Amino acid sequence: MSSPKDSQAASIIDIVKQAKNVLSQNSLDDLVIPAQGLYPHRVLWDSCFAAIGLSHYDVKKAQLQINSFLEAQWSNGMIPHIIFNPQPKYWWDRHIWRSKISPLSKHAIATSGITQPPMFAEAVVRIGERLNESQRNSWYEQIFSRLVAYHSWLYSERNPEGRGLITLIHPWEPGLDNTPPWLVSLRHHHAPWWINMITWLKFDKVADHFRFDARYVDPSERSTTYEALRLYDALRKIRRNKYDSKKIMPKSTFAIEDIVFNSIFIRANSLLKEIAAIINQELPEELLKNIALTETNFKEFWDKEDDKYYSRNQKYGNFLKEDSIGSLMPLYSGVISESRAKQLYERLINKDDFNTPYPLPSVPISSPWFKPMRYWQGPSWININWLLIDGLKRYGFIEEARILSNKSIAMVRDNGFYEYFNPQSGEPAGVVNFSWTAALIIDLVSQMHPEFID
Ligand code: GLC
Repeated sequence: MSSPKDSQAASIIDIVKQAKNVLSQNSLDDLVIPAQGLYPHRVLWDSCFAAIGLSHYDVKKAQLQINSFLEAQWSNGMIPHIIFNPQPKYWWDRHIWRSKISPLSKHAIATSGITQPPMFAEAVVRIGERLNESQRNSWYEQIFSRLVAYHSWLYSERNPEGRGLITLIHPWEPGLDNTPPWLVSLRHHHAPWWINMITWLKFDKVADHFRFDARYVDPSERSTTYEALRLYDALRKIRRNKYDSKKIMPKSTFAIEDIVFNSIFIRANSLLKEIAAIINQELPEELLKNIALTETNFKEFWDKEDDKYYSRNQKYGNFLKEDSIGSLMPLYSGVISESRAKQLYERLINKDDFNTPYPLPSVPISSPWFKPMRYWQGPSWININWLLIDGLKRYGFIEEARILSNKSIAMVRDNGFYEYFNPQSGEPAGVVNFSWTAALIIDLVSQMHPEFID
C-alpha cells in the first residue's frame, strides 16, 4: 500500500513533468513563447521567467532564452518588450510597431519599441547558480556589458529629473496592463474622436466578440475594448515619435514612476553589482551614482498619509492611490527597512487585505476595483507570488514564504497551468499552458523539494 508521503511525491513528480511539457510545447526552435495562440511572440519578462525554470534541467536552453533576447537590444541599450515571431502570418503585429522606424533598432529583428520589468539580472544569476565557477564566470562575462548598457539606458532615457526613479510611458511597460493605478491614467488618456465615438455608441461591447483575444479567453477576463482601444492609441502616439522617450514623456498622459518596475530595478541593480564583483569588473561611475540615488529616493514612493507604497505621477508628483499588489512589491526590492517590510507582511497575511484562500490577489479584496477574474484587477498570478516569496525570504519571513509557495504549487496542481486564478475560489482564468506559470512552479518545487528535480 502506498503511504501519503509516496502519493505526495508522486504528485510533485507529476506536476514537474507536466510543467516541463508545457515549456516544451511552447518552444519554437527552442525559444519559449508565453503560450500558443494568444501569445505567439517572445516577451521580455516571460523569457526571463522561462529561463529561471529551464535552468533546473536544461541550462543551455535557459541561456539561449537570455542570449537570444539580448540580440534584439537597440543601439542605445534599450531592450524591447516583444520580439516578434517572424512567421509571415504575423506581419500585422510587426507592422503595428514597425520598429525599423527607429534608427536605433536592430533592423533585422522586428520588435516593439518599449520595455518591461528588468528581470534579466535575476535570470542571469539564477542560471549562474546552476553552473560551476568557471562556466558561471564566462556566462557573466558574456552578458555583463549588455546588462550595463540596459541599466544605463534606463537612467539616461527614463530618469527625467535625475532622481534615479524610472518613468514608464505605456501601461504595457510595468507588465500589469490593467492594474488600477494605470487604469485611471488610461481613462485620462486623450483619445481621438473615432475611439470616443465607438465607446459612446457602445460599439465596444459588440467589438468584444470580434477581438483576437476572444478566440482564446473570455473577454470578461481581459482588458475591456474601451481600454484596448486606448492602449492602441497610446502606442500610436509613441510610434509617431519613433519611440524616442525624451520626446514622448513631456506630452504623454503616461509618465509614471511605477512601483513594480522600480522595485524590480533596484533588485536588478544589486544583482548587477554582485555579477560585476564576481568577474572583477568595474561598473561605470555614472551608473553607480544613479544606483545609489534610486536606493535613497525610493522612499518617495511611501505615502505617509495612507501608510502605503504607491506609484507616482512623474509630472505632478502625486501618488496614484488606487491600491494594488504593487504596494507590496518593495518587499522584493530589498532596500526598505525591516519595520516597513513588517508592515507589508502584515498586509499580506491580513484576511481583509491580501490574504485570500488562493493568494495573492493582484488587487486587495477590500478595493472597489477588485474583480476576481479580470486580468490584473484581482486574479492571482504565479510570477507575482514568486517575486514576493523571494522578497519574504530575504526579509526573514521564512514560514510565510513556505506557506505561499505551497499554496501556489497546490493552486496550479489542482487547476492547471493557467495564466491567472480567481483568488477566492482558485478557478483558473486566462490562457491555459502558460509558460511562466510552468517555469516558476518548477523553480518553487526545486526550492521546496530539490530531490524531485533532475
Ligand atoms: C500579458 C501580461 C504581460 C505578459 C504578457 C505575455 O499581457 O499582462 O505581463 O508579459 O501577457 O505573457
